[in-house]
Amino acid sequence: MTYTPAADRYQRMIYNRCGRSGLKLPAISLGLWHNFGHDTPHATKQAICRTAFDLGITHFDLANNYGPPPGSAEEAFGELLATDFRGLRDELIISSKAGYLMWDGPYGEWGSRKYVIASCDQSLKRMGLDYVDIFYSHRFDPDTPLEETMGALDHIVRSGRAQYIGISSYNSQRTREAVAILKDLGTPLLIHQPSYNILNRWVETDGLKDTLKELGVGSIAFVPLAQGILTNKYLNGIPAGSRAAQDKSLHPSVVEKALGSVRKLNDMAAARGQTLAQMALAWVLRGGGITTALIGASRPEQVVDCVGALEKLDFTAEELARIDAISEEKDINLWARSSED
Ligand SMILES: NC(=O)c1ccc[n+]([C@@H]2O[C@H](COP(=O)([O-])OP(=O)(O)OC[C@H]3O[C@@H](n4cnc5c(N)ncnc54)[C@H](OP(=O)(O)O)[C@@H]3O)[C@@H](O)[C@H]2O)c1
Repeated sequence: MTYTPAADRYQRMIYNRCGRSGLKLPAISLGLWHNFGHDTPHATKQAICRTAFDLGITHFDLANNYGPPPGSAEEAFGELLATDFRGLRDELIISSKAGYLMWDGPYGEWGSRKYVIASCDQSLKRMGLDYVDIFYSHRFDPDTPLEETMGALDHIVRSGRAQYIGISSYNSQRTREAVAILKDLGTPLLIHQPSYNILNRWVETDGLKDTLKELGVGSIAFVPLAQGILTNKYLNGIPAGSRAAQDKSLHPSVVEKALGSVRKLNDMAAARGQTLAQMALAWVLRGGGITTALIGASRPEQVVDCVGALEKLDFTAEELARIDAISEEKDINLWARSSED
């Protein structure tokens, strides 16, 4: 059936300015890391993306390796762009990334100019696009001069392949270095994509969150729900079909370890009149320190629930202190390695 976007979509969402740029991003963005590969039916992908756009989610986040197999999420999204979202390109912010393993040999991962530019071209081809809105270096490469990786991103913008550039999981110090290099090149850093949620606060301990504010760089927090741990999904065990049940990127033992805290957080969310997912997203966005929370979803209903977070974003000081106390000594950061160098 032909898709007609909801007429009131822009009244349903909050749009935040991305750092000191002119670009506004929806407070909730949708990522296509899981549930957009060959293991998921097209109808599910379509329903998730339609629901997101109907709710004012204009930003869709991809990467070269999302699938499985790698590349298939971009192909699936390309199909939606050619059908449902045909004619809507100028209403969408589409991102992709290069950094993790994509093809065999020495030029298929990390941060060389050779890899980053070739990978960007491949992503554009898979999505059927002339350009992406944001192109990222997916992880810091300790063996490639930062000037080379940033130079490749600058070239990607200058050659029309992307409108803006971003970096992901770079620590505070590396981010400062990248910003300085990019300033000299004349292509400012638009955005940083770090992992961040109630149970993973490395952006605070590392100083990255403050650094981004100081430098006027926007931020998009990935895994704001800790891959589903910070929802009601696992309260009564590990349901069939869930990410932990499939052991995709979330081991059941990680879920079990966090459950004590999660149950207490769930009670708090209920007292606030929210679902746990909604409270977790409101927490990431609290105080305006983060531009957008980047969720994933396996069903359209999850997107609806998540956008409901925007109805109550404020916290009392007591609530924040209680969340801190409950989540003390929890440190679930699967991406810690990328920000250590
Ligand atoms: N830059 C990087 O290195 C990097 C790394 C990872 C991710 N990312 C980006 O971040 C995006 C989000 O990552 P993520 O999917 O792990 O984020 P997440 O939002 O923390 O977790 C999403 C998962 O939580 C569950 N969920 C979502 N909403 C729910 C709700 N309302 N109620 C109950 N369960 C709910 C679903 O699990 P089930 O699937 O089990 O239903 C969903 O797949 C990715 O798609 C990608 O774009 C970037």
